[in-house]
Amino acid sequence: MSQLHVECRTGADLIADLPALARLRIQVFREYPYLYKGDAEYEERYLRTYADATDGVIVVVRDGDRVVGASSALPLAAETPNVIEPFKSHGYAPDRIFYYGESVLLPEYRGLGLGRRFFEEREAHARALGRFDLACFCAVERPHDHPQRPRHYRPLDGLWAKQGFVKQPQLRTTFSWRDLDEAEETPKPMVFWLKHLD
Ligand SMILES: CC(C)(COP(=O)(O)OP(=O)(O)OC[C@H]1O[C@@H](n2cnc3c(N)ncnc32)[C@H](O)[C@@H]1OP(=O)(O)O)[C@@H](O)C(=O)NCCC(=O)NCCS
Repeated sequence: MSQLHVECRTGADLIADLPALARLRIQVFREYPYLYKGDAEYEERYLRTYADATDGVIVVVRDGDRVVGASSALPLAAETPNVIEPFKSHGYAPDRIFYYGESVLLPEYRGLGLGRRFFEEREAHARALGRFDLACFCAVERPHDHPQRPRHYRPLDGLWAKQGFVKQPQLRTTFSWRDLDEAEETPKPMVFWLKHLD
């Protein structure tokens, strides 16, 4: 644990880490509430969008040489239509919004402040770009009585609120993925959270 190192990587500097980042995401997103049956090839392709997008970034945490955490962000305008559309239809200017992708940490590295650091690094990146009024991300909504919900599951809403984000129940979309117990992908309801950067 003494060798922890956090860095923001962009563009071509991300390429060498993509396989390790894909493995990390697949491992972490098996957990509730994601329950994601990951596919390494898809994950690498998805992560490449952060390398290819102008002003995309991934905050990478290493313990020595090993990638143990990551958190991604890019301008909302570089996202797919299902992510941009809810903002357009509610009168927001997508060009003024910075989108946070996912944060993942191996369980043994949680509770050390790295989750907070992910938010700080991505916000600093957005602010340095100087053209964003808002930061946003979205979170999956599972029914409260979901059979896979661990008895002591603690939602991350507290962490997000502490970082200055407010849930926006009117801004919603769906992401499709295959749950561990599903034969094929199904759409999952996603709700956005927003923070003003001014
Ligand atoms: C999300 C994640 C990266 C957070 O990382 P972390 O290192 O455990 O978070 P931190 O230690 O920085 O905690 C930050 C703060 O949030 C609080 N917090 C952490 N988890 C929390 C939770 N589940 N609910 C409420 N508050 C929480 C901490 O107490 C801490 O508060 P403080 O600022 O007063 O000290 C990590 O839990 C993770 O990888 N989870 C699995 C994947 C995931 O759910 N990703 C998020 C959606 S993509």
